[in-house]
Amino acid sequence: MSLRQLFKTKSLDALISETEETGHQFKKALGPVNLIALGVGAIIGAGIFAVVGTAAAGDASRPGAGPALMLSFVLTAFVCALTALCYSEFAAMVPVSGSAYTYAYGTLGELVAWIIGWDLILEYAIGNVAVAIAWSSYFNTLLKGVGIDMPPWLVVDYMTAREGLPEVVAAAPHILGVPIVFNFLAFAIVALLTVVLVWGVRESANFNLGMVVVKLVVLGFFIFASVKFVKPENWTPFMPNGFPGVFAGAAIIFFAYIGFDALSTTAEESRNPQRDMPIGIMGSLVICTLIYVLVAAVFTGMIPYSVLKGTVASQQAEPLTLAMRYAAMPDWMVGIVAFGSVVASTAVLLVFQLGQPRIFFAMARDGLLPQSFAKIHPRFGTPHVTTILTGILVGVTSAITPLTAMVDLTNIGTLFAFILVCIGITILRIKDPDRVRPFRVPLGPFLVPGLGVLSCLFLIYYLPPSSWMRFFWWLLAGAGIYFSYGFWHSRLRKAV
Ligand code: ALA
Repeated sequence: MSLRQLFKTKSLDALISETEETGHQFKKALGPVNLIALGVGAIIGAGIFAVVGTAAAGDASRPGAGPALMLSFVLTAFVCALTALCYSEFAAMVPVSGSAYTYAYGTLGELVAWIIGWDLILEYAIGNVAVAIAWSSYFNTLLKGVGIDMPPWLVVDYMTAREGLPEVVAAAPHILGVPIVFNFLAFAIVALLTVVLVWGVRESANFNLGMVVVKLVVLGFFIFASVKFVKPENWTPFMPNGFPGVFAGAAIIFFAYIGFDALSTTAEESRNPQRDMPIGIMGSLVICTLIYVLVAAVFTGMIPYSVLKGTVASQQAEPLTLAMRYAAMPDWMVGIVAFGSVVASTAVLLVFQLGQPRIFFAMARDGLLPQSFAKIHPRFGTPHVTTILTGILVGVTSAITPLTAMVDLTNIGTLFAFILVCIGITILRIKDPDRVRPFRVPLGPFLVPGLGVLSCLFLIYYLPPSSWMRFFWWLLAGAGIYFSYGFWHSRLRKAV
């Protein structure tokens, strides 16, 4: 085996012409407004509704940002903007649906493409594990609101219960002395969505638009209804843990921004990708940043940092309703926010639960995963094998793992993919300078991509070291699978 083989690239022109083959063409239905709405739809979810609690409070492995969470949001937006420019250049130049996986195949070669594909499992599937856990938390609140009390051992994972809720472990049924504690609700929503997705109900731009409106209305409602409970004295001290707290907060709330990159997977369905992909990617990022900073300001102004720090992880997983209850706001208002969170998380779950099987599908079509993964259901016309596989992976994991560990792993995986996309821009500018680039990253081929790489590394540095180790093992497992399967079955290398 030669190194050259491992880094063999697929030609960008071949990638583009593959999308023009008859029978493989998407309907070009999306304009700039749809694209911004899709971006906002994929971005706003568990991050703002669930992760801000632990980001502001901190935990055993990281200092909390406190009221400076607002600053953390601005910082992370800047990091994302650098990468978003790179995604925009790629998406306008190579409007092909595979996103980072495809860009890497065309620029950095097969091994890196595999690594990104493997890594995107962290963004999509593990990210969805986190969203499903957050979903279950808010859904449980909604159920309580209508008088339905789920047994507490069916709405939390064992690790979280053991650490913060010993009474739940004690009350759980035991089989052979082992307490049965798992997040049944998280499992159930993933199972339900999997059935829907296999059936072939594809999220249409209009359906998504409806969910986006609900998310925005509910976040707007939170801001306007809660603003009068804000006590400016709660913003002091602004940075209870100094800049390390702000940076650690920035690293974890990165989760809230994930999704603008997923927009690039719709490039083949865009009417004018050259102009509209950059508008969609950058536009949705700007809108979400504004909303996030406002929500963070209201949230940290309502509940003092000292009080927030004294709450347990499962309470922090519902930060907005926690703050509303602290301010003694009426139950119906709390209910509206819980409802908004459930809708927002459902939309994110659906988009990513739809995206992951399609990435597996693309990798299988290229021969890097077994051909059976690239099967389409004869009746429903969906990639049922990979959809069910994703459902099992996400459903089971979300039933047994805690929220923050999954968020950290998602963040490191996505940041790593971003780094490779930034590097890809520089490489392609050098290797193929004459290619038509409808949108160019400003200030030359080095500055913005270089800053993008450095700023992503910076956020990775502020994630807990345990997540670096988990990520390392994940990559190692991926390398093992590539060299025992993909390397031998790759279509590109077979053709050579
Ligand atoms: N950005 C997405 C969310 O916050 C992943 O749910």
